[in-house]
Amino acid sequence: MLLKEVLDVGEEIYFVEESYPAQRNIGPTLHYLKGVRTFLENQRFRLLRVRNGEETLGLLLFNTGDEDVPVDFWSVFTGSLAAPSQKAEFEFLAGSIFSLNPPERELEVSPELWRDAVNEYYSLMLVNRNLCPECSTRPESYGSVFSEQRVKRVSEIFQNLEKKGFSLEGRVLEVCCGNGMSTLALYRLGLDPLALEVNKCTVCQGLEHGVLNPKKALVMDATQVSRYFEPGSFDVVVGFMLGLVYEFNKDLWTGIVNEAAKVVTEGGLLLFTVKSRPEIEILAKALRGAGVEGEIVDNTDADGVFDQWYFVGKKYLYKC
Ligand SMILES: C[S@@+](CC[C@H](N)C(=O)[O-])C[C@H]1O[C@@H](n2cnc3c(N)ncnc32)[C@H](O)[C@@H]1O
Repeated sequence: MLLKEVLDVGEEIYFVEESYPAQRNIGPTLHYLKGVRTFLENQRFRLLRVRNGEETLGLLLFNTGDEDVPVDFWSVFTGSLAAPSQKAEFEFLAGSIFSLNPPERELEVSPELWRDAVNEYYSLMLVNRNLCPECSTRPESYGSVFSEQRVKRVSEIFQNLEKKGFSLEGRVLEVCCGNGMSTLALYRLGLDPLALEVNKCTVCQGLEHGVLNPKKALVMDATQVSRYFEPGSFDVVVGFMLGLVYEFNKDLWTGIVNEAAKVVTEGGLLLFTVKSRPEIEILAKALRGAGVEGEIVDNTDADGVFDQWYFVGKKYLYKC
């Protein structure tokens, strides 16, 4: 586990927050840390500090095994992914705890590595069924779930876009990634996308088959991305086979592409594929309304199923 390597600890590690998205709103973390600070009046703890320069990214508290939890473990607290006000509160609390009880070690870690390590922790918790002990889903074989033909189809879209002069570099977000079927094509093109999907079983399947990168796969609702990422966080946002998009459920899908337009940088690329022309027309209308200039492309083939139509465009801050 990357986190154990980064921290150089042999014991188990547990975060207080239940999921990566929960790290945005860290009520339990702050509650716990306030309790720790109260205990410091007459008690000392084994602590570690993870920092990036002056900024505290993480605080680790050692717990000795007991009857309830028979192994020693570290509780990990972080505010680095939290909303600004809670991040500041975390920094303040961690600072006051360390001033009373200095950490036994300090580790300098870049925010990017820390984010990857936290992300991987939750991916491993998911795929090891720690987040859903009641799971009864039986694994399916790789061949029954993943198709080379589909990977090729997504890759061809990118080759065509490159020919048209679109740049596919930088920070890439893939929304609605499913089990990573379309993400596979992005990896093969040398991209390193952050891939998110709302269905945790689907993400679990992608992780289980070693398809999704555990450091860059998230269970997250794509209608909420702007709550977690600042405007301009990504150079490219893509989504493959969105839908089915109908008039009656279009708010979900237009909500997703609107959110994508919020977190892509000015001049950044947006690409969404669907099965049918009416679906892409709905998405294109929403994207244009969100300040994206682009075109609908007919990508139909004899199979008539995957990625038949797509919209590709660039985000402009101000509409002409
Ligand atoms: C047809 S699948 C496509 C999966 C993958 N992109 C592919 O091309 O193979 C559409 C995916 O969108 C996901 N999805 C639907 N609503 C979502 C939401 N609000 N946030 C994130 N993912 C969502 C579904 O769970 C499903 O996995």
